[in-house]
Amino acid sequence: MIDLTRREVLRLGGIALGSAIVGPSLLGCDFHFADPPLLSLARPEPGLAVAELRAAAAKLSVAERPARVLAYGGSYPGPVIRVRAGETLRLGFTNDLAEETNLHFHGLHLDPAVDDPFLHVHPGERHVYELAIPWDAQGTYWYHPHVHGRVAVQLFAGLAGAIVVDPLEEIPGLAAAEDHVLVLKDITLVGEAVASHTAMDWRTGKRGALSLVNGQTARVLSTTAGLLRLRLLNASNARFYRLRLEGLPMLQIASDGGLLERPVERTEIALAPGERAELLVPVVRSGFFWLRDFGCGASSGMGGPGPGTCGTGGGEDLLLIAASGAVPPPELPSRLVTIPRLDPTAARERQELTLADGMMGGGGMMGGGGMMGGFTINGRTFDPDRTDVRGTLGATALWQVTNAGMMHHPFHLHTYAFQVVDRNGVPEPVRAWKDTVDLAPGDTVRLVVRYGDFGGRTVFHCHIPEHEDQGMMGVLAV
Ligand code: C2O
Ligand code: CU
Ligand code: CU
Repeated sequence: MIDLTRREVLRLGGIALGSAIVGPSLLGCDFHFADPPLLSLARPEPGLAVAELRAAAAKLSVAERPARVLAYGGSYPGPVIRVRAGETLRLGFTNDLAEETNLHFHGLHLDPAVDDPFLHVHPGERHVYELAIPWDAQGTYWYHPHVHGRVAVQLFAGLAGAIVVDPLEEIPGLAAAEDHVLVLKDITLVGEAVASHTAMDWRTGKRGALSLVNGQTARVLSTTAGLLRLRLLNASNARFYRLRLEGLPMLQIASDGGLLERPVERTEIALAPGERAELLVPVVRSGFFWLRDFGCGASSGMGGPGPGTCGTGGGEDLLLIAASGAVPPPELPSRLVTIPRLDPTAARERQELTLADGMMGGGGMMGGGGMMGGFTINGRTFDPDRTDVRGTLGATALWQVTNAGMMHHPFHLHTYAFQVVDRNGVPEPVRAWKDTVDLAPGDTVRLVVRYGDFGGRTVFHCHIPEHEDQGMMGVLAV
């Protein structure tokens, strides 16, 4: 058992301790970090996992106080769906909300006929999703609602959960790591209720006043392990994180679409809404180590969302790692997986997309949106019946995406993972499978995509759901 120093305890979540004597008793469950619950799966035959998930209003403890939220499986955030590569997940989903919803499996390479953003599950209905988890899938993904116009409110109220796909064979150096899921998700509570959206929130994206990990304020993760694997998911509507871990090395081993080719040492990890990263933390000494966020916080105003634009401050405490008696592994894996390089010069299909948020410098309003502050892609708002981009099954395509607006817009594509070729002409240093990439105002990124395995209609959009709900989304038909 670890004794916290008085100073460390006082910094934990602003809990008023008065002159309480600090000791092991404070390390009861009240102070302990907890992973989200696991969704229980039945495996009635080899290769098949079966589970039920329900979306419903629920009164739960969020940030250590009673809160009336929307919840998957009665928990905030939702339970972790942990499956194995190559198996089929038969997920019965019941909508017990008072409005339409559905599920989207963000980042997983699934047939768009199954992972269908156009499907509506009506109140009281049950829909069975049958997901063929790809053989080569591994990594951290997530699920959330995708009914156009309702995503921002449902996501902010709590509907989000992580998906972990375990590989067929774990890399030896990773198998020994103590594995945790950290869902970074903010919320604002007014009494017990989730705060509703203001007009300003519909412009900037709603940022919550409480920055939580797994629905809790800053907690203690006590460990005796020599190696931690932290799976980070940004499930917030509009909070951009810049994470630092003080006192221990931090190696990034995975991004959106699973493992990188080799661990990359980081001093800071930036996560835009929708993005994931996995960290390997060798516990090279014992002591207390804070994971902190140096992103925007909740206080930035109009036009200011995004990393680096939101002022100073010493960072917001997210998690305290309390390490004792750890013996770090003598050697970390130097190679993880091989990521085939998608060659942009071989791309026979090309797309150019311009994102606008109605706050153009110089030229006034962008056409198409019709209203002040229209959120558009190539001047148009979302129309589910229109096809914006056509692709050919099996082809490789180069997408050039430009942010002509004044805010950050994290650009997300369903179904097909991509590789970032360059940003403003600067080649991307680390090869990775991505599904979400943040664009600062003025940025141009080039992405290379392969339309593999499935044709169909799917979508791309800004992952600030307020922008998506107001039309910053398009249809890709392959
Ligand atoms: Cu996580 Cu279409 O989104
Ligand atoms: Cu998605
Ligand atoms: Cu946006």
